[in-house]
Amino acid sequence: MNILYKITIILGVLFLLYHVVLHRLTKVPITITPKKYYKNLFANFDFKDNLIFYELGCGWGDFMFAVNKLSRPKKTIGYELSLIHVLFIKTKSFLTKSNIEVKNKNFLHTDLSDGDIFYLFLVKPVVKKAWEKIKKECQPGTIVITLADKIDGAEYLKKIPSNPKNPKTSYFYIYKV
Ligand SMILES: C[S@@+](CC[C@H](N)C(=O)[O-])C[C@H]1O[C@@H](n2cnc3c(N)ncnc32)[C@H](O)[C@@H]1O
Repeated sequence: MNILYKITIILGVLFLLYHVVLHRLTKVPITITPKKYYKNLFANFDFKDNLIFYELGCGWGDFMFAVNKLSRPKKTIGYELSLIHVLFIKTKSFLTKSNIEVKNKNFLHTDLSDGDIFYLFLVKPVVKKAWEKIKKECQPGTIVITLADKIDGAEYLKKIPSNPKNPKTSYFYIYKV
């Protein structure tokens, strides 16, 4: 077997194991918001300029970069427990001179009180915990956008199909504190 081939396989297996360990830690899989979903959300929700935007569990950061390109947030901050993803975002942000901060911390144990808009693509129980924390810490009027998971016990303002052409589309849910 070619040495390069072996190295690729070993790295692939290590990356897979890394995801398994992270999943056990966070109880949230590392999946991403498909980029094709952005179009309909951005057409139907106004990410106003000059606001503080948080992505809680930002993965590779694509969504934050897209919001940062679309509007001019005062600050864009992502929280992510995976160090590989954080280093990738830091490098991308430096190379593209983007005004994006990323923190390698658990967002459930940090102060989120200055946030104006939050984006969450997690799993139901973690979305619920984040919502309770945001409700406690943030100002009335703070917006929370979730993908796929509704928040039990809260009423959304609006739902936006992620892929309107698909009859089985998932939705973005918009909530206000
Ligand atoms: C489903 S992925 C979503 C990634 C990205 N938001 C997107 O939509 O493309 C969820 C991410 O949240 C991270 N995560 C889960 N719980 C977290 C926590 N308590 N603090 C920081 N990051 C967390 C996971 O490591 C994972 O990368």
